[in-house]
Amino acid sequence: MKPDGPRARIDELRRLIRRHDRLYYADDKPEVSDADYDRLFSELRALEEAHPALITPDSPTQRVGGALLERFESVEHAAPMLSLDSDQDPDALRRFDERVRKALGERTPRYVIEPKLDGLSLELVYEKGSLVRASTRGDGSRGEDVTANVRTIRTVPLRLFEADRPIPPVLSVRGEVIIRSREFAELNERLMNEGREPFANPRNSAAGSLRQLDPELAASRPLEAFVYDVLHVEGASFTSQTEVRQALADWGLRVSERVRIVSDIDAVLDYFSEIDAERDDLPYEIDGIVIKLDDLSDRERLGTTSRHPRWAFAFKFAPRAEVTRILTIAASVGRTGVVTPVALMEPVHIGGVTVSRASLHNREEVARKEVREGDLVRVQRAGDVIPQVVERIEEDGHERGPEFQMPVNCPSCGTDLVDRGPFTVCPNSFGCAAQLTGRIQHFGSRQGLDVEGLGEETARLLVAEGLVKRLPDLFSLTTDDLVQLEGFAELSASNLISALGQASRTELRRLLYGLGIPEVGAAVARDLATHFGTIEAIRAADADALIEVPGVGNVMADRITGFFAEPHNRDNLDALLVHMTIEEVTAPQSGELSGKTFVFTGGLRGLSRPEAKSLVEARGGRVSGSVSPRTDLVVAGDSAGSKLEKAQTLGLEILSEEEFLRMLGMD
Ligand code: IVH
Repeated sequence: MKPDGPRARIDELRRLIRRHDRLYYADDKPEVSDADYDRLFSELRALEEAHPALITPDSPTQRVGGALLERFESVEHAAPMLSLDSDQDPDALRRFDERVRKALGERTPRYVIEPKLDGLSLELVYEKGSLVRASTRGDGSRGEDVTANVRTIRTVPLRLFEADRPIPPVLSVRGEVIIRSREFAELNERLMNEGREPFANPRNSAAGSLRQLDPELAASRPLEAFVYDVLHVEGASFTSQTEVRQALADWGLRVSERVRIVSDIDAVLDYFSEIDAERDDLPYEIDGIVIKLDDLSDRERLGTTSRHPRWAFAFKFAPRAEVTRILTIAASVGRTGVVTPVALMEPVHIGGVTVSRASLHNREEVARKEVREGDLVRVQRAGDVIPQVVERIEEDGHERGPEFQMPVNCPSCGTDLVDRGPFTVCPNSFGCAAQLTGRIQHFGSRQGLDVEGLGEETARLLVAEGLVKRLPDLFSLTTDDLVQLEGFAELSASNLISALGQASRTELRRLLYGLGIPEVGAAVARDLATHFGTIEAIRAADADALIEVPGVGNVMADRITGFFAEPHNRDNLDALLVHMTIEEVTAPQSGELSGKTFVFTGGLRGLSRPEAKSLVEARGGRVSGSVSPRTDLVVAGDSAGSKLEKAQTLGLEILSEEEFLRMLGMD
């Protein structure tokens, strides 16, 4: 190799990896498979190991690696990180608008509106394009230096891009660190499996993860960041928020997709209702919307108070919490045999959903919350829809029920229960009807085999009627078996049979998730699938081979090998594989739809959503859940709603189901 050989290749690899990071994390538009990406990464790591002098702190390999910290240093922000004036009352929003109009005189205000992410405020400082510091908001003028942890967040570039816009010598931006609702639920499940206390909501889980003194641990947490503002910049100037946003995106930082520009409060309220309606479908928690003046000289005219700018306002959702009474605390047995205390409550409406039950997790959690039957409690919906008991409300003169006691025998099969850390477990894994019911439900769940019609009630009936004695029996069911069941007719029975038939051909990651291996959530299932490629390789892998997979630690590796060592599990898997075809994990093809993002909305007649999705993916395209300016094509089925409207507003290409099929040559 020529003397500059390794350096040139290292530079090229870094450039390629940064580009793919940006496409994946900031633009949500990946162009290469995980496997191809891993190859680039391994090559870079090997070259750097051979030439350590060429390692730079902003190399993609240097995200994790900070030493254990003793404490966080306090650092000063480039400019004060103010908070926002906020209210839930539309009148307060109108008063904000009046104050703005008064200050602007003749000029009509132009407002930028976007979702208010419910995370943790963060400052990122880039010098000569490299990330040099990240800090929490703290008291607004000084925060904690969390650079080592923030470096592990993949949506935060370690180096800004300069292809589209020169990099300023100094740039300080403000953004929000979040954990998505689904990841939050998985993280909590993991924590509880380890006998640790779960986080109350995604925001707390983001805060707790960011404030880990061990960057390795922070790296294992699914943190993400969005940026929305420039706090300080040298060598560049802007006249509007729209310009700022474009610059941030050009530099490879991730900005919100849901921005809209409006000039009056009615349009703000419309946007608010739209977002409110979609709130449960959004992948992360938001607690309202933020409305800001676009024009930076208008902002200056309005100025700030000591605490918040006068040019911005947070219009918040009503809190999703209500007070209700616990009727009983029941013990429910899940698929892993863990017996969970569940509060059954007087039904209450919280944010459009009726809530009547909430998990109390384990006996220690019941003790910690000090709740008993008959108690008045505050209940909230955290994550997207998961209800939880926040706290007990004291009542004067109220006679309280007895303290909750875990049952001694399994409420489903009567087996003596055993204690495992804070958990109470039914050890009768393969003979307990409740556990089998849970396994069936998990197997057919959205992230598993995605079998429509195989919900909790059906699973319970199949087990109760003796039609399914173990998972593989699902594939031997007939329409005749099902029509005997309560609530089934000829059509629903044959629909379920055909859904099972379709699901018998599936991707490895879905099978892995569906098996319900302890600790293996959707993300780990996907990583295992990409790493090993076949179910045979995974079941044969020992703990050392498993921990090679990013995100798999010792505990998880032991649970996985333990799962495959158990004879019942082995037999079940063998029997399942007789009925199933597991698609090989292949790199996404660079097919005819390569680089194109599709959104499906409304009801499709000839296709299920998963089918439509795999048609697109098989041709190299991708499917997203929400419409954005980056969407290439929207396929609108029957009674398509707000997504279709949005696509029209954005002037996107819209296809009917028939046109879509024609495009694929499938008509
Ligand atoms: S703009 C001067 N935009 O909400 C403040 N803030 O409750 C400019 N937040 O501390 C903030 N999403 O951390 C802005 N799209 C968004 C936001 C946002 C979340 C946070 C921010 C702020 C808090 C105020």
